[in-house]
Amino acid sequence: MTTRFTINGRAVSVDADEDSALLWAIRDDIGLTGTKFGCGIGMCGACTVHVGGRATRSCITPLAAVEGADITTIEGLDPAGAHPVQKAWRALQVPQCGYCQPGQIMQVAAMLKDFPAPTDADIDAVMAGSLCRCMTYVRIRAAIKEAAA
Ligand code: FES
Repeated sequence: MTTRFTINGRAVSVDADEDSALLWAIRDDIGLTGTKFGCGIGMCGACTVHVGGRATRSCITPLAAVEGADITTIEGLDPAGAHPVQKAWRALQVPQCGYCQPGQIMQVAAMLKDFPAPTDADIDAVMAGSLCRCMTYVRIRAAIKEAAA
């Protein structure tokens, strides 16, 4: 089956089973490897992209669900790397190994639309499902507040 959608402003079509995960279309068919595979069951956040502006776990999103959708990956958030979240991430040197950080950044960028000045409770609620095995959570929280300032 062919699924058509827009990714980072570019119209694409993917020939794959409609039940296959959006993550693999993004990485293997479209070649955007900034979106990462972590758990494959929607529990870690490494695969987070925006679908229609909302943070979405691409590992558990079937292609059938994104026909005609507008998708943004870390590569398209701001191609110049000048999004406020990206700037805060650099300023506070958030990444350690870096693997989870594209997903973290995409989750935060979506969150700040709903919570432009997030409290600690807001951050806890939204970011609970975005895991970092290097435990950079203190810097992530500080960078969220920097990006929101
Ligand atoms: Fe999708 Fe973990 S790889 S949530």
